[in-house]
Amino acid sequence: MSKPTAAITAVQGYVPEGILSNQDLEKMVDTNDEWITSRTGIKERRMAAKGEALSDFGQKIVEGILKKRGIKPEEIDMVIVGTITGDYRFPSSSNVICDKCGLVNAWGFDLSAACSGFLYALDIGKNYIENGTYKKVIVIGADVMSSIINYKDRATCIIFGDGGGGVLLEPNYDGLGIQDSILKADGAGREFLLQKIGGSLEPITKENAETDGQYVYQEGQTVFKHAVKNMADVAVDIMERNNLTADDVDWLAPHQANLRIIDATANRMGLDHSKIMINIEKFGNTTAGTIPLLLWEWEDKFKKGDNIILAAFGGGFTWGSIYLKWAY
Ligand code: UT7
Repeated sequence: MSKPTAAITAVQGYVPEGILSNQDLEKMVDTNDEWITSRTGIKERRMAAKGEALSDFGQKIVEGILKKRGIKPEEIDMVIVGTITGDYRFPSSSNVICDKCGLVNAWGFDLSAACSGFLYALDIGKNYIENGTYKKVIVIGADVMSSIINYKDRATCIIFGDGGGGVLLEPNYDGLGIQDSILKADGAGREFLLQKIGGSLEPITKENAETDGQYVYQEGQTVFKHAVKNMADVAVDIMERNNLTADDVDWLAPHQANLRIIDATANRMGLDHSKIMINIEKFGNTTAGTIPLLLWEWEDKFKKGDNIILAAFGGGFTWGSIYLKWAY
């Protein structure tokens, strides 16, 4: 039998019920709905309930995938979780999710690539399917950003939200599924978007526990400039090396960080607005969660064989693009 491709065969998303609207934020920091909407495109974002952790998101995502695909927990070989907000620094949320869902034959790990976490994880999962090692790999991208956001910092609290999703990867023998990927990183960008305290460089102490270093720090304009250029460059690169014209691309699933970054990417690709998947207005930036949340929401609109391009940029810096053919 010829070598399989890795195809997405089920998608499941999850967002918590709690909503934090722009109007709510107006009462918390010096901002307003008009500024947030015009600068980012965000109207509201979801917030985890007290005690709700990344593995709780993951459990709902995995259970949804198993149900949709009609398969048993013991059939899953591997769970890769793109996240920067796991339940613990260790063990991995993958371990916790496997335990909560009864995935007794699966192993896995968490992968830290911020907003590109889902793309990085999808590429790794793809390789395990393509080389024949595994038949069923779950790839999750999700974040509980509210656990690391300072709700007194208007530069960051207006952007981020909680949520995520996951996909099941299985072998495909009709050439459908993941066709190509370009993944990039530049660690020199780390100073512009990071959580300064809590790692081995600066562990949490009594003295620093109350400082802002425990929260996400972002130099917005610098990140914005790099995001606009790199996300567009990589999406255009993947089109060119696969000989895809704008007409050939059916959908673009861009990381939802800022509507202006999404528009810039789509314009560089020459895509009609109707092909761009956008839900930033209701979920904000869920870091590793944005792209699987888009796939989940658009699943009913996809047709077998549709050419879909995924693209992301985020902390690290990390960025990349994946080209896939929808398989169902
Ligand atoms: O997902 C991972 C990667 N992250 C991104 O891709 C995010 C990239 N960055 C951005 O999306 C944008 O830089 C932000 C949305 C974070 C900020 O938008 P901006 O257009 O770059 O605003 P800015 O930081 O240049 O600030 C412009 C003005 C400033 O006031 P002055 O100095 O012009 O008087 C800020 O103090 O807007 C002010 N400002 C705000 N005003 C109202 C900053 N935040 C707010 C706010 N409400 N929340």
